[in-house]
This record gives sequence, C-alpha cells and structure tokens, in this order.
Amino acid sequence: QAAPNGCPVSHRAAAFDPFEEGYQQDPPDYVRWAREQEPTFYSPKLGYWVVTRYESIKAIFRDHHTFSPSIALEKITPTGDEANAVLASYGFALNRTLVNEDEPAHMPRRRALMDPFTPDELKHHEPMVRALAREYVDRFIDDGRADLVDQMLWEVPLTVALHFLGVPEEDMDTLREYSIAHTVNTWGRPKPEEQVAVAHAVGNFWQFAGKVLDKMRQDPEAPGWMQYGIRKQREQPEVVTDSYLHSMMMAGIVAAHETTANATANAMKLLLQHPSVWREICEDPSLIPNAVEECLRHNGSVAAWRRLATKDVQIDGIEIPAGSKLLIVTSSANHDDRHFADADLFDIRRDNASDHLTFGYGAHQCMGKNLARMEMQIFLEEFTRRLPHMRLAEQQFSYVPNTSFRGPEHLWVEWDPQRNPERMCA
Ligand code: HEM
Repeated sequence: QAAPNGCPVSHRAAAFDPFEEGYQQDPPDYVRWAREQEPTFYSPKLGYWVVTRYESIKAIFRDHHTFSPSIALEKITPTGDEANAVLASYGFALNRTLVNEDEPAHMPRRRALMDPFTPDELKHHEPMVRALAREYVDRFIDDGRADLVDQMLWEVPLTVALHFLGVPEEDMDTLREYSIAHTVNTWGRPKPEEQVAVAHAVGNFWQFAGKVLDKMRQDPEAPGWMQYGIRKQREQPEVVTDSYLHSMMMAGIVAAHETTANATANAMKLLLQHPSVWREICEDPSLIPNAVEECLRHNGSVAAWRRLATKDVQIDGIEIPAGSKLLIVTSSANHDDRHFADADLFDIRRDNASDHLTFGYGAHQCMGKNLARMEMQIFLEEFTRRLPHMRLAEQQFSYVPNTSFRGPEHLWVEWDPQRNPERMCA
C-alpha cells in the first residue's frame, strides 16, 4: 500500500483506526508508536495524514493559511445517499462558523464577536455556575452514589451554554440527543443503518437552531452572545452574515457545552483514579486551577482536530501534497515527552501544564476557554468541599466512537453519606 506521496504505508499506519476501542479508551497511548517512530503517517482507512508530535502540531496551528481549518466541521465519514437526502429534506446547510472559516473572513468576525468573552463579562456568569453546581449536588448528596455525567455534568454546562448564548432553556434530553448526533455526524463513523437516524436528529437540530434565531431577532436587545451577534450584524452585515448566525446557533450549542461536560467528566475520572492527588486538592483548593490545566492536558475532551494543507508542505520530513487532509492528534501532542517532562505522569504542579493544545492554538484558539476553565474550577471546588470522600465505583467506561469529542458516557461515583462534611458540622 502506498500513501498519496508515493511512500509505502507501514503496517501500523495501515492498521490505524480511530473508531476502534484502543483509540476511544486512550488516544495518546494508541498512537504512542507513532509519536516515537513515525510521527506523521498516512492512514489509508481514514484517508487522512495523522500528525502526533507537539512541535509539529503547534506549527500547524500557527500557520492557518497553509493549514486551513475549513474541514474542521466536515463529515469525517461521508454518508450514503439516503442519509444525505434526509439532511437535505430539513434544508440542512451548516456552513462557516468561526472554527472552520478561512481568512480574510475569519479574523474580522472573531474580533467583532469577542467582547462577551472578556474576563469582566465572564465574571457575570460565575454566580449562576456556582448556584447550579450547588443545586445539582444537593439533589444527590444524600444518595451515596451518582452518575456524575447523567445527574450533573451534562446538564449544568448545557444550561450555562444556553444562558451564555442567550437561548431559552429547552428540553435538555432532546438537546443532548441532538448534540451527540452532531458529534457522530461530524467526527464519527455511523453504520449505514444508523446514518438515517443521525441525519434526522441533525436535521431537527438545524431547524431548531433556525427557529431560535428567528425568535431572537424579535428581541435583539436581550442578553446573550447570539443576540450580540445579531446586533453586530446591523453594523457589519458583511462580517456577521445570516449563514454564520444560523450555523453558529447550532454549532455553538455543541461547542459550548459538550466540550465542557466531557472535560469535567474526564477530569473527575482522572482525579479519582489518583486518590492521593484528589486528597491534596480537597485539602488545598488553591491547587485547583493548575489541576484543571493538567487534567485538560492529560485527558482533555478534544482528542484531535483537523486541517487541510493548502499547498505542498513537509511535516516531520514527510512530503505532504496540497489538498491533503490532516488529523492532528492534540491529545498525543499533550503526551509528547519532548515538550512535557515525563508526559504520562499526572502532576497537578506541572509548571507548563497550560501549554496543552486541547483548546487549539493561534488564530482559532478556543474563544470559550476561560468560560470552560471557570466552570471546571467551580465544579471541582464544589465536589472537593462537599464530597471529599467520594471514590470511583467499579465500572467499564464507554465513549461515543469518534475522532474528536471525548468523555465517558457515564461516571459512577460513590461515598458514605454519613460522612458528608455537611452532616458532620450539623
Ligand atoms: C474553538 C476546544 C469550550 C467556543 C475551539 C477549538 C478547540 C476547542 C480545539 C479549535 C481551536 C483551533 O482551531 O485552534 C474546546 C474545549 C472546551 C471548549 C476543549 C472545553 C473544555 C468552549 C466554550 C465555548 C467555546 C465553553 C463558548 C462559550 C469556541 C469558539 C471557537 C472554539 C467560538 C472558534 C474560535 C475561532 O475559530 O476563532 N474550541 N472548547 N468553546 N471554541 Fe472551544
């Protein structure tokens, strides 16, 4: 087998399959061989070049002209005619948002829409995040057992995301179903029989986004990032277009909540798998901010991202032809010993933890990163204060098979409610 540049494909590169259990359970471990021996390789199963080392991935993020983000939201697995017809029947037309927009359109739009993400603006959301976190913990604190994903970590970031975007609270279960369908549609490999159901959910999500946007246009002075965009459209209609607003209305719900829900579930899993570290942050909450960075590095919620080579380039000495698609495995970069000393070690005092590439890097770096950090810190503060004696229950972890969005579908924890600090004080 040969890659598009004519070079032979190694046995391991030929076997690479990100929809398999190995990648799903532990992406950086699954590509360890590549990081060490063949850092950039062609995957015939995926039709992508796969890049695994820190410096190369950072250089790709840094040069968003040579490495276009335009394929970031493209279906990684093309769907069949039937699913495509279903999507078309809903008028599905997800197009450019920010994350998949090239220059020169991207930067003026990013700048126009940045204000609601400043630290001062984000501060307004903090009391709501805290109140929600407390309310949800109240619901299960006396039970001695909870699935943190189902009982809290999905809904709270979703509520915060809706609030941030300015979307009225909707049926949470339906939005959860839509979001997972969007993930599978974009980064998964649904079997032909699943594709049609996924297409219906994505089509419904698209129409839902359109209806919410129409409602918002009737009250553009209301608070919310989307309303802010609608107001900006009046000043700069060629920068903030209709197509952008509709696409972002849908993609924004996913970007703002699924990433953060998964990131917190991954962080809690990792911390509870290291009980001595968990005890340390319970005893000294000032360790939490760097612990959050280390969790995002060690076990982040975005495992890989995509770029398109717009001209012939070399990566790790390999000739990559123009038009090649790249899967840049950021979770592997985060475990690269060349950048992070003893990279597999989970060390909440690591001084360069925040160098991780989980939020991307450069011109497209995640705009919501500080909102996500704030939410994660608050969740950890509440858990460590109110349930310091919690531990992981026996369980197998499962993941929605896809290349990019990653977090356990369930996270069962248990504790002895008799030992709840709140009862001891009472
Ligand atoms: C872009 C990850 C939370 C809004 C991105 C990118 C990644 C990412 C990998 C692409 C970066 C690049 O191409 O260089 C994450 C993770 C999150 C998170 C891991 C949580 C832990 C959020 C939240 C929001 C948000 C809460 C909104 C409230 C955005 C936007 C972009 C983006 C608007 C596009 C920026 C641009 O292209 O200029 N995010 N994200 N994200 N994210 Fe996030």
